[in-house]
Amino acid sequence: MTTAQLILDTVSRVVHVGTAITLVGGSVFMAFALLPASAELSDEEHDKLRVGVLGRWKKFVGPGIGLFILSGFYNFARLAPLHKGDSLYHALVGTKILLAFAVFFIASALVGKSKAFDKLRQNRAKWLKILILLAAIIVGISGFVKVRGIPVTTAVATPAAELAE
Ligand code: HEM
Repeated sequence: MTTAQLILDTVSRVVHVGTAITLVGGSVFMAFALLPASAELSDEEHDKLRVGVLGRWKKFVGPGIGLFILSGFYNFARLAPLHKGDSLYHALVGTKILLAFAVFFIASALVGKSKAFDKLRQNRAKWLKILILLAAIIVGISGFVKVRGIPVTTAVATPAAELAE
């Protein structure tokens, strides 16, 4: 592995995990602290708070989805060759990517203005919790495939083995 490759792999991993921490953390805060607390406000105050919070949170959601997709596909392009013939890895990561796109859809609809998703925004607390559940499954799958590593039968080369060369 070249030094440039090592730096790029590290940047991609840090960006991916950092985005997950920011977006999933923000969603948990919103669902379990901000929304319940704001239920006690008057309609007028509540509307003002919602516009102020969502206008700002939107600036994290859009770029965050972009960073997830960029770093995710980069990670996948780097790791897939090491998992050739490892069908469990591909099934799990494939499921994870599909779930991630469902999360991106819900997150975009919740901060968006499209009339088509008014119903979803009216049930914000429910959809935020669904988003958090899907994100938890995604993090679980990602953590499992990372800890499981590359099975000996499918191992072609590991970054560490390449480094030792
Ligand atoms: C809601 C969105 C997402 C979340 C919360 C998420 C979270 C994570 C986490 C926590 C890891 C483990 C990183 C580590 O242990 O170093 C990971 C790894 C990974 N993610 Fe994501 N991710 C998301 C979206 C995506 C997308 C859209 C893709 C692909 C397009 C992707 C592809 C990957 C790959 C290939 C890995 C490495 C798996 C391995 O270790 O073999 N992720 N992700």
